[in-house]
Amino acid sequence: MRRNSKVWKGLVLVLALLVWILVFLSFQGPGRSWAEEEDEYAGDPVAGEKLMRDLDCYQCHGIGDEGGDVGPDLTNVRLRRSKKWLFEWLEDPSLSRPSTGMPAFTWNSYKEINNIIAYLDTLKTPVDTKKILKEKNLVKAGEMLVKAYDCRACHTIKTGGLDIYPNLTKAGEKLRPEWDKKFLKDPSAWDIYTFMPNFHLSDPEIEAIVAYILSKK
Ligand code: HEC
Ligand code: HEC
Repeated sequence: MRRNSKVWKGLVLVLALLVWILVFLSFQGPGRSWAEEEDEYAGDPVAGEKLMRDLDCYQCHGIGDEGGDVGPDLTNVRLRRSKKWLFEWLEDPSLSRPSTGMPAFTWNSYKEINNIIAYLDTLKTPVDTKKILKEKNLVKAGEMLVKAYDCRACHTIKTGGLDIYPNLTKAGEKLRPEWDKKFLKDPSAWDIYTFMPNFHLSDPEIEAIVAYILSKK
């Protein structure tokens, strides 16, 4: 009898512990860790691609070798925008940027948005920073980074870019290196509503990119 009640007490304790752990986990809420946040936006890339064709996003956006150039090329958009950012943007672009030329779409479900995000995620080419920074010529390394991060999706730097964003071809004439470095580290610290993305660049990457941009006069 005594033994049995010990076993019971033990079981109750274990159960209590389990309940406590479950409650603790549920209070962590969704989107706590980066991995969890990303899971929140899980979707079907094949359905996403089909939907983008049906809605004709290509009319305004380039992807790979096709599409228009009214808005930024989307091939590497996942290098500059988080899934959360993309979700909020697609839900209603004018909430992020009242002056935007992108229309708001009517979605049948949030699943549709997640499917598009899942498709966009498959398109990116991750940047091999380590390899690029082995290049000793800082201006050359910067040029490679600007290409890899696809800054020309928005900025004209001699080639590429869109007229609605600052042209960086002659940035060397008016920008100052210290300002540029701070700006690239976190554009929203300069203007919380800026459309310029935060690429989460490392200091050596910023050094190289600024050397390249300022070499253009
Ligand atoms: C009529 C033209 C037009 C159509 C159609 C359009 N967009 Fe856009 N989109 C734009 C413009 C212009 C911008 C740039 C916003 C700005 O500068 O205000 C943009 C921005 C974006 C961005 C952010 C790009 C970045 O680099 O940060 C994403 C993502 C996007 N669009 C996805 C889509 C998807 C997905 C569709 C189809 C469901 C679509 N767009 C349809 C014009 C369009
Ligand atoms: C999605 C579009 C977009 C992309 C991609 C983009 N930028 Fe920008 N950038 C902007 C916008 C918009 C501004 C203007 C800031 C503002 O007015 O809020 C800007 C401003 C700048 C400026 C300041 C220019 C000036 O004359 O004031 C620099 C420098 C710059 N970007 C560098 C870069 C670099 C380097 C990359 C790639 C790593 C990049 N940008 C990618 C949209 C973009």
